[in-house]
Amino acid sequence: MRLLLFGGSFDPPHRGHKALLEAAHRTLRPDRTLVLPAWLSPFKSGHGAPARDRLAMARLLVRGLERASVDGFEIARGRRTFAYELLREARRRYRGAELWFLIGSDSLATLPGWKRPGELRLGVSWLVGHRTGAPARPPEGFRVRFLAGRFPDVSSTELRARLYAGEDWGELLPKRVARYIRKRRLYGLAAHEELARVLSKDRYAHTLGVARLAAELARRHGHDAGAAALAGLLHDCGRRFDPAGMARYARERRLPVPERERTLREAPLLAHAYIGADLARRRFGVTDPAVLGAIAHHTLGKPQMTAFERLLYVADLASPDRGFSTADRIRRVALRDLDRAFVEAVQTKEYWTRKRGGWLHPMTSRVRRWARTLR
Ligand SMILES: [Fe+2]
Ligand SMILES: [Fe+2]
Repeated sequence: MRLLLFGGSFDPPHRGHKALLEAAHRTLRPDRTLVLPAWLSPFKSGHGAPARDRLAMARLLVRGLERASVDGFEIARGRRTFAYELLREARRRYRGAELWFLIGSDSLATLPGWKRPGELRLGVSWLVGHRTGAPARPPEGFRVRFLAGRFPDVSSTELRARLYAGEDWGELLPKRVARYIRKRRLYGLAAHEELARVLSKDRYAHTLGVARLAAELARRHGHDAGAAALAGLLHDCGRRFDPAGMARYARERRLPVPERERTLREAPLLAHAYIGADLARRRFGVTDPAVLGAIAHHTLGKPQMTAFERLLYVADLASPDRGFSTADRIRRVALRDLDRAFVEAVQTKEYWTRKRGGWLHPMTSRVRRWARTLR
């Protein structure tokens, strides 16, 4: 008996997965294929769909593929499961089976770094699909067979980025999966609907601009583009209230607005960022602290902001809809040098606040001084 295992986050499953599975079936003719959606930590970047939806989408992915099924083993286990553990489980269940793992060539080079690589060399073979740009030399000691042809260079992270940023995504997914996502309004689709309703037209357009720029900066600078687009999508959701409503909300929920009482008196609008993080968690179900932190600090910032938080701060100030030349310049700088763009964004914000005669929050000068240490 020949058993093929295919693990992954499937968040969401896409055309690349489908093409790999179909080619694997043609080439290997397995007696049985198990698609194993991974358990994902809710506190890690790249917030996606709930586990039960990922299971349902994986089932739609394998529908029509003979002798293939989805196995919720890892999700039921409720913790991260390594390839060697899946292998042991498969061996326990299918004694004497010939075992194969299906992977993309982008994962191939990383194999020796996986947990217990010794076990991954013995008693299992690796069926590998070529993806463009990824090196495809088998690491030493692993039994590898390559599938013919190249496979679409789609990634779930990129798909999430597009979904959150309201960009084109439908053709990257199997039709049934796309329909499921629309029906369940996953990956921010529900948030899009709600924000389009409660924010002004300009504010919603700004939101999309920030989400797209944040995703672009994340791709350039090695951050999770999906998480960046999600932070961009939700960053101004606190703007649904007027200033008096913001002050009330921040007081009632005792939000950690720096110098809360004074801020709510002098410039209640500044509270919208902290309200946004609160709403992102409670209303939109975001659990990733990186995303929540970026939303909370996108307006005032704070010393020791993380690189991901600075990325959203810059994307907010420099999004294309801002329509002033400094924003355009900072956007160009940000594509090359995010730290430099951040320093300029901090200075620009302070300059405009002074020029308009607005109240300068004490955090402003603290962030300006700290930002200098980045250069
Ligand atoms: Fe904002
Ligand atoms: Fe904004």
